Amino acid sequence: MCGIIGAIHTKGNVASLLRQSLKRLEYRGYDSSGIATAANGILHIKKDKGKIDDIHQRLNFDTLPGNIGIGHTRWATHGSPSKANAHPHTDCLNRLAVVHNGIIENYQELRKNLMENGHQLRSETDTEVIPHLIEDALHQTSRLDQAVAQILPQLEGSYAIVVIEAHRNELVAARQESPLIIGLGNQGVYCASDVPAFLPMTRKTIVLEDDELVLLTAQGALLSRFNQSGDLSHLSLRLPTVVQWTIDMAQKGGYPHFMLKEIHEQPKALQDTLRIRKPDLMGFTEILHNHRHIITFAAGTAFHATLAAKYMFSHNANRLIHNIIASEGPDTVAASPGEDSVVLAVSQSGETIDTIHAVKHLKKQGCTVVAITNTVGSSITRLADQVLYTQAGPEIGVAATKTFATQLATLASLSVYLGTMTGALKKKEQKELLEALNQFPNIIQSVIRNQESMIKVAAQEYVTKSDFFFLGRGISTATAMEGALKIKEIAYVHAEGYPAGESKHGAIALVEPGFPVIFVAPNDSTRRHLEGNVMEMKARGARIVAICSAQDKALINLSDQVIPLPQLPSLSFSPICYVVPLQLLAYYAAILRGHNPDQPRNLAKAVTVL
Ligand code: M6R
Repeated sequence: MCGIIGAIHTKGNVASLLRQSLKRLEYRGYDSSGIATAANGILHIKKDKGKIDDIHQRLNFDTLPGNIGIGHTRWATHGSPSKANAHPHTDCLNRLAVVHNGIIENYQELRKNLMENGHQLRSETDTEVIPHLIEDALHQTSRLDQAVAQILPQLEGSYAIVVIEAHRNELVAARQESPLIIGLGNQGVYCASDVPAFLPMTRKTIVLEDDELVLLTAQGALLSRFNQSGDLSHLSLRLPTVVQWTIDMAQKGGYPHFMLKEIHEQPKALQDTLRIRKPDLMGFTEILHNHRHIITFAAGTAFHATLAAKYMFSHNANRLIHNIIASEGPDTVAASPGEDSVVLAVSQSGETIDTIHAVKHLKKQGCTVVAITNTVGSSITRLADQVLYTQAGPEIGVAATKTFATQLATLASLSVYLGTMTGALKKKEQKELLEALNQFPNIIQSVIRNQESMIKVAAQEYVTKSDFFFLGRGISTATAMEGALKIKEIAYVHAEGYPAGESKHGAIALVEPGFPVIFVAPNDSTRRHLEGNVMEMKARGARIVAICSAQDKALINLSDQVIPLPQLPSLSFSPICYVVPLQLLAYYAAILRGHNPDQPRNLAKAVTVL
């Protein structure tokens, strides 16, 4: 995934504004970045490999002249991270510059044709074909928006693009499958991959839909739809949505890293999410209820949320759901599951291509699709028949934290409503469970307040350890797997999240004296058997760390180290609370090892490649 921005600033030069916007998009990729501006009929470009601040120190982006420009921060797909492959890319005459997020799947073929026709391409990227195609189209029409529309039917794949031309005071942007949002401000117009890019300038946004193109000038936005013949048909501009995020919400708010800020934001994010309107929840639940099979698709952390949902749905609603890792989706469900199946897709970004492809695969076969996402206007929302939004606000750290909590809370609510519909829960039980769920924001607040400094100290003990097990049973398997994923992705430590009962079938062979094994051990129905697994590990000399109730004296006595947690009003939602110490442990482990938890190597916030 990459971050793109285009801006026309009516009060002076645009370069510094673009640079700061790119900083707010850096979570989308940080292999290289670049800015192009247009002034006096000339394109001015600065770009290089590396992070924005480092490039800025070397090249000083802010000296680029002009009030119109585009910028890009890259997560490499086609072509290694290098200056040549950094965006913006230009045509042969350096008159046109393009930034792109997405993948042009047929670029090899387009590239070959362009080169045979005398074009000079200078990078290994898929993107570079775009300015060259527009260069040719401008021989047929003098309008930039028409030239862009003419070439779009040739592009196969996904894209959000923004184009500038040296002599024009306009930006042309278009989208197909990749996000692009327009911002309308008092001192300029903007378009970007995500709202935080232009949040300091405006909160008025319009989400560009697939097959739409926008012409931005200092006067405003002209919206059109493009078709497969390359024609444009004018659309009236939709009313802007005023986003409620503050700039502060999209920035670090005094914390050293976004990840820590986002861990601390969990009580509020949960509270907001638990306010989902009852009619919306009921409508969504009815769809689940009316289908014989519920198939979940999700990736990474979102997959762990669906795994926890399996236990919640089974215990609270007496419904068995099928959890499928999104990238395995199309291959796992090869035969049509039929119209009595509903796909429940869970994705923070709503842009994870594995999830989108799996959903499309089953939608084609006639399945109903419902989605839980944190991102309004994201691709998944356009595929779904019904959507529930988590209310986590922007999550900038690559590691998902508050969005996991809000996905769990949404799935937990659904399990309770479904339980009432299936008859598994009586009205009174439903009420008690919902009341219990509503206590979680305060419980988490107290866990963060009381345990953070202890976990920070505990993390020091494990600085030299290179392997960990995270074990749990039942619903805590999901928590354990999430704990392992967190420490792997940001602290670069090898960790395995495993069902504790399964560990004796192989993984235990790795255990030797001092090997850290973290048990996620709420006092639920699995607790008795878990003790046996603790004893097995202990007998091999493992160092036992228990995350358990402060009342669980037996386990506390067996453990070398304990992170005590409060009694929970309902154990069927335990991951919401039990994951918090694991997030903090991963965060402090990353810090102690000298890594930036917000931007782990090789990762991006939304993974838009298959
Ligand atoms: O946006 P999504 O929820 O679809 O993202 C899915 C995964 O890519 C994501 O959860 C990833 O595993 C995170 N980096 C985990 O912290």
